[in-house]
Amino acid sequence: MERELALEFARVTEAAALASARWMGRGDKIAADDAAVRAMRAVFDTVNIDGTVVIGEGEMDEAPMLYIGEKVGTGKPPSVDVAVDPLEGTTIVAKGTTGAIAVIAVAPRGCFLHAPDMYMDKIAVGPLAKGKISLDASVEENLLAVSKALNKSIEEVTVVILDRPRHKKVIEDVRRAGARIRLITDGDVSPAVATAFEDSGVDMMMGIGGAPEGVLAAAALACLGGDMQARLIPEDEAEVQRIHAMGIADENKLLKLEDLVKGDDVIFAATGITDGSLLRGVRYNSRGASTHTLVMRSRTGTVRFVEAWHRFDKKPLIDKIQG
Ligand code: FBP
Repeated sequence: MERELALEFARVTEAAALASARWMGRGDKIAADDAAVRAMRAVFDTVNIDGTVVIGEGEMDEAPMLYIGEKVGTGKPPSVDVAVDPLEGTTIVAKGTTGAIAVIAVAPRGCFLHAPDMYMDKIAVGPLAKGKISLDASVEENLLAVSKALNKSIEEVTVVILDRPRHKKVIEDVRRAGARIRLITDGDVSPAVATAFEDSGVDMMMGIGGAPEGVLAAAALACLGGDMQARLIPEDEAEVQRIHAMGIADENKLLKLEDLVKGDDVIFAATGITDGSLLRGVRYNSRGASTHTLVMRSRTGTVRFVEAWHRFDKKPLIDKIQG
């Protein structure tokens, strides 16, 4: 992939964020998601890629746009797979709380795990703790390894966990080990990415969340030199069959970063919708709005934060956003 594409993908997530941000706090997560999907779809069509959605809004019969298998882009080379979450954190936007993002990752064909929409157990850390974590180790062992790698005491390590009843034990284990916890109501991609930024205030992300979100987080960590391990959590026989259909014979397989995202040609872009620990949300001003985007390529490891000011009187982007 040519490096110029990185800026094109930033424009894609900016559009989704700008569209979705209008729904902040309005209590309608479906409308917030719908706005993000439409805007993302419209801007994707201007990008010179022959893209296929492999992680998206659902199966073809469940989602009108950005469904799995849908083609995006102008159809010109390169041939790429696209993972999207136009609005990661629908409830966050509906309530106007923190940490919603618009996010995509793009890689050459076949590089992303085609994770179905089911749960996944995950552990994510930044570059300093790469190679030190294991989903098969105890919480205490992981915390010890990470605290050593980060040259901090366990009491200074901060772990982000989704606030769910299913995490009762892991929360108890982290507390017993003495580490700090930030419980979040939704949106586990953003904190997984934040582990790779030393001053983000997040050292580890643990627990069970969405599998598609896991692949997106892995794409970011591949760019940042961080680490992640995961395991799909099928809830019934149908989900076990879906895992087998993906070509994974053992549904309990421990998935390492390179199983989630292969190769070294991934581009990741995310734009803040509401304020978060890594990205500022959309802010409106007298001429339009500003956005804050993280865009990076694994090939070079370059990490860019792009602050963009969008003029609504100049129209082109806003026309696309409003469809
Ligand atoms: P949505 O954007 O679809 O609302 O998902 C947000 C999210 O919090 C993800 O970040 C997370 O992986 C998953 O939902 C957790 O699922 P659940 O809410 O079922 O625990």
